[in-house]
Amino acid sequence: MKIIEAKSYEDMSRKAANIISAQVICKPDSVLGLATGSTPIGTYKQLIDWYHKGDVDFSEVTSVNLDEYAGLDETNDQSYRYFMNHNFFDHINIRKEYTYVPNGLAEDLEAEGRRYDELIESLGGIDLQLLGIGHNGHIGFNEPTDEFVTGTHVVSLGESTIQANARFFASADEVPKKAITMGIRAILQAKKVVLVANGTDKKEIVERAVYGPVTPKVPASILQLHPDCTVICCFK
Ligand code: PGA
Repeated sequence: MKIIEAKSYEDMSRKAANIISAQVICKPDSVLGLATGSTPIGTYKQLIDWYHKGDVDFSEVTSVNLDEYAGLDETNDQSYRYFMNHNFFDHINIRKEYTYVPNGLAEDLEAEGRRYDELIESLGGIDLQLLGIGHNGHIGFNEPTDEFVTGTHVVSLGESTIQANARFFASADEVPKKAITMGIRAILQAKKVVLVANGTDKKEIVERAVYGPVTPKVPASILQLHPDCTVICCFK
């Protein structure tokens, strides 16, 4: 694992965007695994800026997102599809039909999980996976559990995740209680992983994930086993 301490949120975002743009420049048809949350927004902004300057071209890129709330459609401004369109896809030249997000409206969410894993496999896996980290150590919506779950699966969101995400909803009661998330296998099989973490409140969990034991109680700790994982953090 490579740990980079950034000077500021902007510096963290630029460093993450640098790695992503280098990936796309070197392999224009990259499969990018993308993340939602407040932390990657600056990374997307930087990539949009470089796209407008002609430095990076997304016309051959495919993307697969980590997760989606159950029951929210893409017109709901809290859905992760809406987030991705609004914060990234609508501002670059990626082909929308090659941007994938798990379908949180699927009647059979378990079957949707299997379909999503097959999709990722059919794309040849993920070249670069961007991740945030939750205060409880989650990556995607892989919440702390007794064992790592490998495939894309349905999760009941933990109380700390519901409270953390309540800031985006009118109240905590409105945060969906279930979500569908990529599992640990697709994340670990990504050729390259970049995790971004911002804020003093993330310091403790990042230290546990990076230096503590590898345990499903801190899902991000599994990244210690990844051969090419870069953690870019700003604890200011
Ligand atoms: P945040 O969320 O970027 O909004 O802190 C990160 C996450 O929960 O993965």
